[in-house]
Amino acid sequence: MFKIRKYPDPILTNKAEPVTEFGPRLEQIVEEMFLTMYQEHGVGLAAPQVGISKRIFVVNCEKDQPPDGEIALINPEIVSVEGEQYGDEGCLSFPGMFAKKKRPMKVTMRAQDVDGEWFEVTGEKLLARALLHERDHLDGNVFVQDLELTEFIKLKKELEMMRREYKRAKARA
Ligand code: NI
Repeated sequence: MFKIRKYPDPILTNKAEPVTEFGPRLEQIVEEMFLTMYQEHGVGLAAPQVGISKRIFVVNCEKDQPPDGEIALINPEIVSVEGEQYGDEGCLSFPGMFAKKKRPMKVTMRAQDVDGEWFEVTGEKLLARALLHERDHLDGNVFVQDLELTEFIKLKKELEMMRREYKRAKARA
């Protein structure tokens, strides 16, 4: 199982590298990412969050997360967005923190699968939010960036505590 990197680990704000090698090793990483995501009760997980700075993320937004709800996106690109939604968003790298955030209501992305085949996926509501949130991770953007000021202020103290905890943990290591 992978260990989740927490804010403010610098890997979270780095731009991830494109994936160029497909096949069993990549499939193994993706499988382990799903397992880690389920263990942490998340609906999405991006590779930088497990210490791999590559353009890979996984989501499963179906109720009870059945295997056929699993989508792994490699080198994803946004094709189109539509509409708007406003709702709570969280992130496994910011445990226990939630903020209201504006997102498109619907998104279509193009990505490669673990074998390098291109496919398209369209998501609405929660799936759209998860796809966009995880895609942001690959560019080094975390969900607390570009929040409305009132939402950001609510998280300010907790972010400060996380920064302090990160420093303490680093000093111990
Ligand atoms: Ni996240």
